Amino acid sequence: MKTPIDLRSDTVTRPSQAMREAMAQAPVGDDVYGDDPTVNSLEERVATMFGKESGVFTPTGSLANQLAIRMLVAPGEELLAESNSHIVRAELGAAAVFSGITTRTWPAKNGLLIAKDALDLARPNSGPYLVSTTAIAVENTHNFGGGTVQPLEEIKVLRKGADELGLALHLDGARIWNAHVASGVALDEYGKYFDTISVCLSKGLGAPIGSIMLGDKELVTKARIWRKRYGAGMRQVGLLAGAAHYALDNNIARLSEDHRRAKELAVAIASVDKSFLDPALVETNIVGLDLANALFTAAEFAARCKEAGLWISALGPKYARLVTHLDFDDEQCKAAIEILKCALVA
Ligand SMILES: Cc1ncc(COP(=O)(O)O)c(C=O)c1O
Repeated sequence: MKTPIDLRSDTVTRPSQAMREAMAQAPVGDDVYGDDPTVNSLEERVATMFGKESGVFTPTGSLANQLAIRMLVAPGEELLAESNSHIVRAELGAAAVFSGITTRTWPAKNGLLIAKDALDLARPNSGPYLVSTTAIAVENTHNFGGGTVQPLEEIKVLRKGADELGLALHLDGARIWNAHVASGVALDEYGKYFDTISVCLSKGLGAPIGSIMLGDKELVTKARIWRKRYGAGMRQVGLLAGAAHYALDNNIARLSEDHRRAKELAVAIASVDKSFLDPALVETNIVGLDLANALFTAAEFAARCKEAGLWISALGPKYARLVTHLDFDDEQCKAAIEILKCALVA
């Protein structure tokens, strides 16, 4: 049987031989003692890239988000986030369970940020009767929104409004690399507008594990204590930081290839039925299909694709998602298009 084409997520990539060699050669030490030179240089490197003072390496993007939330929002206070954001929908209630906070959400079409929607919801310093808002989270790119790149102008408006209200801003930048490559906005420009940032090295960049939470020195020093408290103090983890360094050296600029292939998939899908998606909205590596007008469900569509050798995700009854990545090439893209065209004809 032919190897399946796997477009369920950009997390399915496997480390290349060169990445494995970089891992094998990485100098290591006990990172709980701060002795791992590869982790230390990675944290410094990524902090500098985003113009932040400091960073802490975490095994997952979820933990990086949760450490940031823990730092910005006290128990009993409130975080605002978009209603389809990863923090709200896919971290299994972690913010409530670990930080004892509440969330309120605003809906946004395709996850696209409109600063006013978030700011209108905010209620800082609400006194003894209502929950006080203390932070707002923004996801860039927006995963369940279809890889949406957040407009810099809206981010600026949000920062200004947040400053006026005395609120902190967190960036869930799991795929900020994709936003940077698609928009041309510099990473340290994005960095300017947020108090804390989480970035993932294990999505489009192709490292097997790893995220970094960024912020100022004091906040990151505190977050490091919470990381250990949550059980994620790691030892000779420079092996993984070595993979992350390799990913940063080699795999950022090439994200444009993932974006091009996602666009090719989107154009082919829209050629079957325009109601499934608008290819103009596919800016990065995520292709979301709205199957509301189809006679089949997303699960049935995914099953048909799987039968033909293409793995995709059914994320809702009528919502399917394909994600391009560094283990997906032009030949596979051609084959995937043929499979999709057949599977979409009811
Ligand atoms: C936008 C976003 N944030 C955070 C995460 C969490 O990353 P992890 O799976 O490493 O916990 C993901 C994972 O897909 C994501 O898409």
